[in-house]
Amino acid sequence: MSGSDSEPELSAETLRILQQVMQEQQEQQERFEQLRQQAEDRFDAVQDSNDSNNNNKDLSKITMDFFREDWQLSQFWYDENTSEQLAKEVLDNTDKDSLVCCISSPTAYVKLMSMNPPTQNNNFLFEYDTRFDVYGRQFIHYDYSHPLEFRLAPELKSSVDLIVVDPPFLSEECLTKTLETVRFLLKEGGKVVLCTGAVMEPIALKDGLKMTQFFPGHQNGLSNDFRCYVNYKSERFPFKDQE
Ligand SMILES: C[S@@+](CC[C@H](N)C(=O)[O-])C[C@H]1O[C@@H](n2cnc3c(N)ncnc32)[C@H](O)[C@@H]1O
Repeated sequence: MSGSDSEPELSAETLRILQQVMQEQQEQQERFEQLRQQAEDRFDAVQDSNDSNNNNKDLSKITMDFFREDWQLSQFWYDENTSEQLAKEVLDNTDKDSLVCCISSPTAYVKLMSMNPPTQNNNFLFEYDTRFDVYGRQFIHYDYSHPLEFRLAPELKSSVDLIVVDPPFLSEECLTKTLETVRFLLKEGGKVVLCTGAVMEPIALKDGLKMTQFFPGHQNGLSNDFRCYVNYKSERFPFKDQE
């Protein structure tokens, strides 16, 4: 405080730190906007030229350092090994013509895109958190409580080859609705990798998703028993009952 009846004043040092934080935030915002615009332009160019080999190098530069966990949104990011294993599983099970969707699993998506996959222009991220719209039209705003209402729904119906999905909440309602989206998107014979709690096994099984030997890990730990389920024979993620 300076005078007796004056407003509280910040010290010079606090002001300096505050200004620095605000400047960093602004710079990050500008970087985001630039990436988002590049993603849009690139997508348009790819659509125009109809050239599926026209890989989008800009999107591969995005890393999870851009996105702090927001626990209000149940964001618990995978550790490096987990996002890498999931991305490699996608690469091993797709080719340049495949369609891939990551639903509520942005870390796997960001890792996959950073690997410049052949499917780069056919990878979609379904997410509630709009910070991920840096991916332009490959970002699809998604809320599991409206499982069939999202952009490109008619185009993507029954056409997706592989889906990685990690529903935000450990509840029957959330998993059931999210799996409704999965069934809607999936092509006949399509593959699904589901990461969720062990307690969800009975619901996962109804969609042919069997528990594997792989334990997804998180950067900041997670107290519940967390598992990975697949609906196909995977070399990387063998079924648990094959132990
Ligand atoms: C349990 S986290 C899974 C994230 C995953 N571990 C990762 O590292 O990518 C759930 C994700 O669901 C998203 N989410 C939150 N609310 C949602 C909603 N209503 N509908 C769909 N997704 C939501 C969060 O933003 C978060 O990315």
